[in-house]
Amino acid sequence: MRSQKTPYQRIIFVCCNSREDGVCCSPEGNPTGEQFREWLKEYIEKKGLKGKIRVARSGCMDLCRQGPNLMVFPDNIWLNGVRKDELPRIAAEYIETTVPSVA
Ligand code: FES
Repeated sequence: MRSQKTPYQRIIFVCCNSREDGVCCSPEGNPTGEQFREWLKEYIEKKGLKGKIRVARSGCMDLCRQGPNLMVFPDNIWLNGVRKDELPRIAAEYIETTVPSVA
């Protein structure tokens, strides 16, 4: 086994799990985890931070009723019940603050 440091300053996991019982991160009418993942990836790409901040799919975080759910490392933060209009706040706190050159 080998180990090496990742190039990522932050990793944002987005629950993209889909459950058949209806208890899920993406209740009807809310954006899905996949949509959040795409929005975050587009934002990171637009800001030129690809390769520095990673957005990854996650399986169930066992917080299904609180979804959509995101988990941010190394901050060890869960973001629950995320709405699309909160993306600017998420970007300000967990994307733009990571790299000092991003205003
Ligand atoms: S389905 Fe997302 S936390 Fe369970």
